[in-house]
Amino acid sequence: MTAHTFPVTGKSREEVLAALRDHTARDLKSDGRAFAFVYDAGEPNRALAREAFAACMSINGLDPTVYPSARKIENAVVGACLDLMHAPEGAAGTATAGGTESVMLAVKTARDFARKTRPEITAPKMLLPETAHACFHKAAHYLGVEAVVVDVDPVTFRADAADARAKMTDDVILVVGSAPSYAHGVIDPIEELAALALEHGALMHVDACVGGCVLPFMVENGEALGGFDFSVPGVTSISMDLHKYGFAPKGISILLQRRRELRDAQYFACASWSGYAIVNATTLGSKSLAACGAAFTLLHHLGREGYRETTKLMWDATKKAVAAIDAIDGLEMVGRPDMNLFAFRATEGDVFELSDRLTARGWHVQPTYAYGRSPAHIHLTLDPGNATHVDAFLADLREAVVDLPAPIEPPAQVVGLLESLGTGDASGMDAGGLMASLGIADGQLPSSSAMIHRLINAASPGARERLLVLFIGELFS
Ligand SMILES: Cc1ncc(COP(=O)(O)O)c(C=O)c1O
Repeated sequence: MTAHTFPVTGKSREEVLAALRDHTARDLKSDGRAFAFVYDAGEPNRALAREAFAACMSINGLDPTVYPSARKIENAVVGACLDLMHAPEGAAGTATAGGTESVMLAVKTARDFARKTRPEITAPKMLLPETAHACFHKAAHYLGVEAVVVDVDPVTFRADAADARAKMTDDVILVVGSAPSYAHGVIDPIEELAALALEHGALMHVDACVGGCVLPFMVENGEALGGFDFSVPGVTSISMDLHKYGFAPKGISILLQRRRELRDAQYFACASWSGYAIVNATTLGSKSLAACGAAFTLLHHLGREGYRETTKLMWDATKKAVAAIDAIDGLEMVGRPDMNLFAFRATEGDVFELSDRLTARGWHVQPTYAYGRSPAHIHLTLDPGNATHVDAFLADLREAVVDLPAPIEPPAQVVGLLESLGTGDASGMDAGGLMASLGIADGQLPSSSAMIHRLINAASPGARERLLVLFIGELFS
């Protein structure tokens, strides 16, 4: 890895900006060929967001009494989201830095609200469908709340409400449902899960991080969907990311709470030190309003009509892609999506080889490992840019699946080595050497990465986690 030192002499504006451009040259492009990471509504909207981002860059949300704009901009964005999610009178919300932060704060809310209202609970639990986003496990880990995993149906991948009921105990403080889940794009049975939570005095969080800026517009476009917002009794909080299908730059999600007393439990105040007294709605202290300001402009620029249009574009493309995949020999959908993100697998051939072939044809897809009831698959998240490329993608997919080799099981010895990483001490290991031997250079996977994915897929989740820590640790100074 290049050794970086603190620069002694300042460089010109042109030079430093050129260095930044150089660093970003190999990044994933927002060009309609990336089916993951990118949520882009086209260059005019990107340009508007860029301008708003720069205009709000110096607003510090740490203290809205000295930056009144922080309050005005956040209230406008949160208000719009409360309206979209049919929030009742008295509901409230907060702008956060992303989906993970919104989810972590929803779990903190449940924990701290239970500490106040159900003090007899000493070991709080949350009911978490197997398909819920990993950030709930992160929240469980950080906040000392045990995640009790709820089964999902092996065909639809929706949370099994009967299993949730069977696992409900007196110390459950939170029930979670996704609208929709990231991997398969399916909405959990929110009405049943929320009724269960209500019956047992638990809170209910709907993770609409990826769906919050799409599902309401699908309903407005006439699609019949299960309930997912505050009109469902028992739903107490909802997360929705404006940096996904709100099309804002990264750094903005919204956490909505049904009642203000719940948001009070989310807050953290501290006057027990010798500096300024603080009250923080989120985990950050000082925070820029840049992304929130960009979201503000996009919400007002696109309006319901604009979002309805992009939603229709993405949903039409999704239906076309799903119908095509259904008709291709050797491919099979994994679940059936309620929204424009979904999973499919290779029925006989190696799905990781298929992913390499798509990469070779210039597409970025997300190869995903088997976990629980979900087999190894390719995940696609469609944005408006993808919608205009879907025919070209499907043509390449039809070609790429022909003569796909059967999956090769990695040698047991190698898998055994990976497993030992999952539990053992890897501090003496030459992680750099391992990565170089796998062809990982300058932090990027080689264009043929099926072998790497096959290896990781064959390892247990614990060993995968340890490997990922090693890998990322190797990339950063
Ligand atoms: C359903 C869901 N929840 C939570 C998250 C986490 O969001 P973020 O990456 O913004 O932290 C994601 C991200 O894709 C998601 O799809």
